[in-house]
Amino acid sequence: MSPSKGHGAQQMTQNLQLMGVRLPRLSELLQRRPIRVEEKVTKIVLERGISNILRELDNYLKGLHEVAIDVLSALCVGRHVLLVGPVGIGKTSLAEAIAEILHLDEPPYIFCACHSHMTATELTGDIDIAVALQAGLDHPLAYIPGPLVMAHGRILILDEINRLSPYSQAALLQALQEHYVVIRGIRIRSDFLVIATANPVEYSGVFELTEALADRMKYVELNYPDADLLKAIIRWKVDQIVRNYDVIKIPEEFLDTIVAMIGIMRSEGLIEAGPSIRACIYAVASTIARALVERREPTLEDLKREVIQNFIPSIRGEFQSETDKKTYLEKVFERAVYMVTRGSG
Ligand SMILES: Nc1ncnc2c1ncn2[C@@H]1O[C@H](COP(=O)(O)OP(=O)(O)O)[C@@H](O)[C@H]1O
Ligand SMILES: [Mg+2]
Repeated sequence: MSPSKGHGAQQMTQNLQLMGVRLPRLSELLQRRPIRVEEKVTKIVLERGISNILRELDNYLKGLHEVAIDVLSALCVGRHVLLVGPVGIGKTSLAEAIAEILHLDEPPYIFCACHSHMTATELTGDIDIAVALQAGLDHPLAYIPGPLVMAHGRILILDEINRLSPYSQAALLQALQEHYVVIRGIRIRSDFLVIATANPVEYSGVFELTEALADRMKYVELNYPDADLLKAIIRWKVDQIVRNYDVIKIPEEFLDTIVAMIGIMRSEGLIEAGPSIRACIYAVASTIARALVERREPTLEDLKREVIQNFIPSIRGEFQSETDKKTYLEKVFERAVYMVTRGSG
């Protein structure tokens, strides 16, 4: 009998099957053998050589060699990793890049975007009682595996892990401790290594990681890049975004102005959370796009407008209102332009 339409889990199964990911039957899952994921990682790192791996990483992200070695050295000994840092610093991109480069299996990693309403069964997967009763527990649709089960032999990326409620964190902890995921009393083997990301707890809408879970992970911090690296990152990323739009060159003074602004804001310490790298990239890219759609050259006025629009949502500090923030950004922009033009004049 065909399953009823419109069931969320079944829809997901069909999507997964369409994408070529075959869902395992429960009986296959019960026969799973242990996989030493850390040995797979070590073998790949040694065979390929760390310098080649870091060179490959440069295709994704810049300036993160040390951090990447921090991550790989943990994975090689079976230690899970927690990437911590402010929004837009490259945590998610780094987790994906490393998992992609290691390519432990096909697909190389399972990605789980954590959120506060995520239940333990969303992580583990659950038996669909209706299907199980009609077609038996071994029907491919009777059990829809969750990310903790799908990650066997791979990297599991738990993006923004500190959004998980303590209940869901407990389900995760059990899987990490026992290498088994328990679904309604059925134990399924699952060996994986986690690369998790987290924003600092002072950001709103997040739970603190339970001590037991935090203790299972190596804490790797991503720091804001220095001025030269930030400039290189913005130039490189903007170039990727506008590459196909017939843009000859990204004006150097735009990059210098943004970088000078960041320098001012950071040195003043007024800002608790500064504009993210992402906000910087898009401030410059949309300045170019603005001029492009009007078929003219981009100006510093365009940049100012875009800087304000792109920075306002991501900065936090002691501002009374959005207008306050805007005024502050305008002032910093003018000072940055002055610094840049004085420097070049
Ligand atoms: N070191 C870096 N090199 C290149 N791009 C970076 C770097 N850091 C951040 N980015 C870019 O900034 C954006 C935000 O990165 P993301 O990984 O989503 O940040 P996070 O997960 O920390 O919020 C992405 O477009 C990413 O490519
Ligand atoms: Mg992220």
